[in-house]
Amino acid sequence: MRILFLGDLVGRVGRTAAIEELPGLVEDNQLDFVIVNGENAAAGFGITEAILQDVLDAGADVVTTGNHVWDQRDTLVYIERQDRLLRPVNYPAGTPGRGAHLYTARNGARVMVANVMGRVFMDSLDDPFAAIDRAVNDCPLGDVADAIIVDVHAEATSEKQAMAHFLDGRVSLVVGTHTHVPTADHQILENGTAYMSDAGMCGAYDSVLGMEKEEPVNRFQRKIPGSRFTPASGDPTVCGVAIETDDRTGLAERIAPLRIGGRLEPVVPPFWNGGS
Ligand SMILES: [Fe+2]
Ligand SMILES: [Fe+2]
Repeated sequence: MRILFLGDLVGRVGRTAAIEELPGLVEDNQLDFVIVNGENAAAGFGITEAILQDVLDAGADVVTTGNHVWDQRDTLVYIERQDRLLRPVNYPAGTPGRGAHLYTARNGARVMVANVMGRVFMDSLDDPFAAIDRAVNDCPLGDVADAIIVDVHAEATSEKQAMAHFLDGRVSLVVGTHTHVPTADHQILENGTAYMSDAGMCGAYDSVLGMEKEEPVNRFQRKIPGSRFTPASGDPTVCGVAIETDDRTGLAERIAPLRIGGRLEPVVPPFWNGGS
């Protein structure tokens, strides 16, 4: 199977770029399944139901989130009827929505997607390792699921790497989000799980994490808020990671980063058919 994951959409600039690229990427490269992290899609803070629908209509099968999931208050309500929107699985019991779910891909395969949030330098949720262990055990790879994708939304690279090794051999891909910068460590681990510490954001990279840089620079200097954070308006880069999985085992055979447009060096997975 061919699976694409795009990192955090930041604001109108980031989501528009991803929405424009996705239909061509899916068609030209015969992608079977697409996951997009949408936690910053609405002006940098959360995602509205209308934006969610636009991202799904463009070709995303599932939208994951993270610590910004509830920034748009309506999300607490509409997430109950939108099973293609995930929030971290390790929120306390009784939290609206779901953190893991089984979907059907374009090729008929069953894909489990799970979203989990780290606890290091972040709001402390339930144990992410125990939570993801339960989700994966409920839906074993090569048995119930033909592929399993885990979005580990975390600040600390150590926690993301530990999560990847914890899941190695049991899921197809562990990919980090939240830090908004693509890492160069994409690899297939010892037991067949593909891994990349951060997929990178879809947003403008002449910025601080996708936001206009003046206010972040001010806050680091003065520790006093001057104005609100607003998404940077520069030329966006669409960033993500692509994998190919073995149809029988569900484990990864190939992994490569994707970067289109903007200021970052462009790269297209070498195992894809064509460009966008
Ligand atoms: Fe983010
Ligand atoms: Fe985040």
